[in-house]
Amino acid sequence: MKKLDPRLRAVVDNISGVVLADVGCDHGKIGLTALKEGRVTKTIESDVSQPSLDKAIKLAKEEGLTSVEFIRCDGFEGYRDDQVDVAVVAGMGGREIVKILDSQVRGIAKFVLLAHSDVDYLRRYLAAGGYVRERDYVVESGKKFYNLIVATRGEETPSYKEIMLGNNSITDPTFCSFVENELAKIGSYAEFVAADSQIKRYYDLLREVKEEIRHAKTVSNN
Ligand SMILES: C[S@@+](CC[C@H](N)C(=O)[O-])C[C@H]1O[C@@H](n2cnc3c(N)ncnc32)[C@H](O)[C@@H]1O
Repeated sequence: MKKLDPRLRAVVDNISGVVLADVGCDHGKIGLTALKEGRVTKTIESDVSQPSLDKAIKLAKEEGLTSVEFIRCDGFEGYRDDQVDVAVVAGMGGREIVKILDSQVRGIAKFVLLAHSDVDYLRRYLAAGGYVRERDYVVESGKKFYNLIVATRGEETPSYKEIMLGNNSITDPTFCSFVENELAKIGSYAEFVAADSQIKRYYDLLREVKEEIRHAKTVSNN
C-alpha cells in the first residue's frame, strides 16, 4: 500500500481495538492499513456505494488481507449489535456523520471521526449524546485543515471555544496555522462579520486565540 497522506495517517494512528467498522470506507485505506498494522484483528469495510466498496475489495485483494468483511449499507444499517468495538467515520460532512452515529449499533466503545464541515454541529451532538472527546485536534494535509475527533462514552460540557476549535494546544504549529487561515478566510468577508452575530462571535474568538498564541510565544522566547 502506498504511503498514506497526513489526514489518513492521523485517522489510522488513532485506531485501536479488536474489530473495526470503517463506515464510508471508499478506497478502504483506513481500515485495511489499520488491519495491516495490527491495530485491529478484523475490519468491516462498509459503504453506501457499491463502486466505492469495490475499491476497498480490490485493495484488500492486492494486499492479500483476508480478515475483512465487506458490506454495502447506509451507515450502521448492515451491522449487528456487539459486532465491532471501534468505528471510523471519516471524510463526510458533520451532519452526515451525526445521522450515521444516530442509528449506530450497540457495543462501540471508541469512535474516530473526521468531518469535512459542520464540525461544531458534530461536537454539540457528541456533548448532548453522552460522548466525551478524548482528542480533538487539527491535522493539515494537502494544504487543507481537518479536525480529527476521538470520542468515547462519557460526559462533558464543552465551552464555546471547545465547540468551535476543539481541544488544540496553542503551542501546536498546525493549530496556529489553522487559526491564521480561519481569520484570513473570514476577514475577507468583512461585511458578513459585521452583520452576522454568530460569525462575529467566532471571529472575535479567533482573534482572542491569536493573541493567546502570540503571548505564549513571547513568554517562551523570554
Ligand atoms: C470522501 S469518501 C471518504 C473515504 C474515507 N472514509 C476517507 O476518509 O478518506 C466518503 C465515502 O462515504 C460514503 N458515504 C457517504 N454517506 C454514507 C453513508 N450514510 N453510509 C455509508 N457510506 C457513506 C461515500 O459513498 C464515499 O465512499
